[in-house]
Amino acid sequence: MNLIIRDAVEADLPVIVEIYNATVPTRMVTAELEPTTVEARLPWFREHSPDEYPFWVAESDDRVIGWLDFKKFLPRCAYRGTAEISVYVHEKFRRHGVGQRLLEEAIARTPSLGITALIGLIFGHNQPSLKLFERFGFERWGFFPAVAQLDGVKRDLVIVGLHCGKPCSHPESFRGLISAETTPHAGAPQPPSYNDCLNLMQALMLYRQQPIHSALQKIRDKYSMLHLDVLLLVYHFAKICSGSILEIGAFVGGATIAAAFGVRDSGQQKKVIALEPGGNLKHKRLGTRNILRDLERNLARHHVSDMVTLIKGRSFNPETISAVHQALGSDEIGLLILDADSGKRRDIECYRDKLAEGCWMVIDDYCGAASNPKSAPSRADVDALVAAGALEPLGFYGWSTWVGRWQGRGACCH
Ligand SMILES: C[S@@+](CC[C@H](N)C(=O)[O-])C[C@H]1O[C@@H](n2cnc3c(N)ncnc32)[C@H](O)[C@@H]1O
Repeated sequence: MNLIIRDAVEADLPVIVEIYNATVPTRMVTAELEPTTVEARLPWFREHSPDEYPFWVAESDDRVIGWLDFKKFLPRCAYRGTAEISVYVHEKFRRHGVGQRLLEEAIARTPSLGITALIGLIFGHNQPSLKLFERFGFERWGFFPAVAQLDGVKRDLVIVGLHCGKPCSHPESFRGLISAETTPHAGAPQPPSYNDCLNLMQALMLYRQQPIHSALQKIRDKYSMLHLDVLLLVYHFAKICSGSILEIGAFVGGATIAAAFGVRDSGQQKKVIALEPGGNLKHKRLGTRNILRDLERNLARHHVSDMVTLIKGRSFNPETISAVHQALGSDEIGLLILDADSGKRRDIECYRDKLAEGCWMVIDDYCGAASNPKSAPSRADVDALVAAGALEPLGFYGWSTWVGRWQGRGACCH
């Protein structure tokens, strides 16, 4: 979509109000219970200014299809650097990346606007908006239970926030910072995954300068067959994802511990479910006579046993599948780590009903030496799912790990 983001002018107000009013009856987006009018909204519109609290519209083919505005978070001077943003997209153009582009632009423009933190007020049941903000590194900063009453139903309010000042200390805040304007193809619209790929690389680069890097280096040396970069990404995804984490093929716990550290550092309650049938392995560095015994010992050693639900069995066994469903309860999977055998498609099929849309995927054995019998079938499975539109590739890391996201709702995997 050829999208232009520009400052809104008063002549845009009728369509701005129209887009806004369309959300009122959904009871998902605004706490307004009745449609508003252009006249009533004029003073609000005039409070904005392009240099301080801008109001932007997203235009495609000369048609306004979305808008974003900044407003004061609180009137006291000390809050000057914090702004609340709202994003609205015409109902016919949702899921086309319009909200994403507006949000990207907002984050990219914060330094020139003197804004150091962004806030969003979102209903707790508005999952699409919560997910959109989360993808850009917004974290949950506030929760107000049952403060809104919509048609007799009490609804929660979530406050999400992002510090935008010095992104170096927060790798995840980089995820939205690269807009089409800062890429070599300035002005040319890029598919969303282009930015996602760059943002992942940048996040990784920043983690390399943080204490988690050396912590995971030790974990890798002692317990993991995966590359340190992959463990850092597992940590990152576990930290930012919404939903639970499912790992298939835990071995002695390298990636399991990385995921548990990510959950710990997210400050949120997320389940880590690890599947491992056990056995022994002859290996120069990581040999073990009893995988399950060593796995349990390593989880305990790193104080994450309580965070991990260990299911002893093979991923495709009906008892394992039902144990995973039981452990998940109503949760969806927000990060899936596949590092077992070559049955990647089989494992995805076993759990696809629980995969959140946009679920992060870390799939090992995508490529490898001819001596690795897992790589050819693994790669064929992944490539087929990408071709079917069920997986979105975001990069290749370490020695042989594919990284991407699940977009399989509605895509055919067979
Ligand atoms: C390559 S290792 C995993 C390495 C680990 N992720 C790490 O960080 O080093 C593969 C593990 O998958 C386990 N496995 C193999 N097939 C499996 C299946 N169908 N379900 C669950 N685990 C499986 C094996 O027992 C083995 O411990």
